[in-house]
Amino acid sequence: MAKYKRFKGTQDIFGDETKYWYYIEKIARDTFIKYGFKEIRTPIIEPTELFTRSVGETSDIVKKEMYTFEDKGKRSVTLRPEGTASVVRAYIENSMINLGSPIKLYYMGPMFRYEKPQAGRQRQFHQIGVEIFGTDTPISDAETIILADELLKAFGLKNYKIKINSIGCPKCRPKYREALKKYFKPHLENMCKDCQTRYDTNIMRLLDCKVDREISKDAPSILDYLCDECKSHFESVVKYLDEMGISYEIDPKIVRGLDYYSRTAFEIVHYGLGAQSAILGGGRYNSLVEELGGKETPAIGFALGVERIILALKSEEVEVENPEEIDVYVAYSGENTDIEALKLSRNLKKEGLRVFLNISDRSLRNQLKHANKMGATFVAIIGEKERDEETVSIKNMKTGEQFEVERYWVPQILKEKNTME
Ligand code: HAM
Repeated sequence: MAKYKRFKGTQDIFGDETKYWYYIEKIARDTFIKYGFKEIRTPIIEPTELFTRSVGETSDIVKKEMYTFEDKGKRSVTLRPEGTASVVRAYIENSMINLGSPIKLYYMGPMFRYEKPQAGRQRQFHQIGVEIFGTDTPISDAETIILADELLKAFGLKNYKIKINSIGCPKCRPKYREALKKYFKPHLENMCKDCQTRYDTNIMRLLDCKVDREISKDAPSILDYLCDECKSHFESVVKYLDEMGISYEIDPKIVRGLDYYSRTAFEIVHYGLGAQSAILGGGRYNSLVEELGGKETPAIGFALGVERIILALKSEEVEVENPEEIDVYVAYSGENTDIEALKLSRNLKKEGLRVFLNISDRSLRNQLKHANKMGATFVAIIGEKERDEETVSIKNMKTGEQFEVERYWVPQILKEKNTME
């Protein structure tokens, strides 16, 4: 029994699982770079107020889910529950407006929310996200949604749906809130506790309550309350998506759980995931930069949950190659064979092969066993005979075939054979 155990809702990622992480991170990076994004890495710890001000005092994240503590300097520190607030802070703090506007940034990394762990919901999870600063054009919203779709397709996923909505702006929302209050008032006493609190603090969240779905079915739609600017903005976004053949559904119940959004909001759900089906979420946030002390700067972005994408890949049985496979295990036995093995493994790596050199004191038999456990495709063996004759014995671990080759030719021959395996 292990003396120390990881916290509930956290994960050790190793073995055959890592291939998914390589796969997702590589495809994401390549796709973002294709769209002109630049990477940003921000700290995992931030001042607590950054999140209370941006994600919102009344949001579940701030109210119940933050990992907040006091550091030795008596500052209130929070492990970031999401990436947007940190990127906005970095954008302002580093005067990134001087780098050219609009600017496109992407990030990947761990986030922390003290939620009830279940399949697809963890306390430490990982997001890959993008943020675009400095434009409010409908084409930028459309391109962001197109990027999300292209990314999921590049992962090999098919079984998902894009849901979009416009949640208006501070100009059109008050009237809509009034309409919602009027609609929900007679139902309120039959609604869940969360809804009863949110009725006063954040009425729009009543729309995406999982408990009171029936009651909100006939609630007024935000789309009927949009001001002229928001309406025409949304219509243009939708038109671009239509022109580009993107399939999506307009869902006026998409309100998002973070407070900073305005206008376009979207979520992508995967059908193979059960309760935690949201694999990606995002939207526009035109007031947040100003709210956090910067100049008025419109912005939009999204983030996906890596663990949920992995569940989606598994549910669609997408084949993912393991880049950590070992091509050649170099085994040796006998006096002065170790230095020959070192040299051989260097030459094999020069050919681009993935090499595991035996680094333990063990018999040849046990080296072969180890090679088998490591899943090596070939074993290159230098025994005393091979040492004296300047050869190497090669064993193909898949077929069992064994042959001896002049040492000089081994890297080239193994490289050719490896590409055929
Ligand atoms: P979010 O919807 O809170 O948005 O999170 C984005 C994604 O992170 C979700 O769709 C889900 O896949 C994943 N996720 C969230 N919580 C968990 C969890 N406890 N366990 C596993 N996965 C989780 C945001 O965070 C915004 N910052 C997105 C954004 C970027 N909006 C504009 N820019």
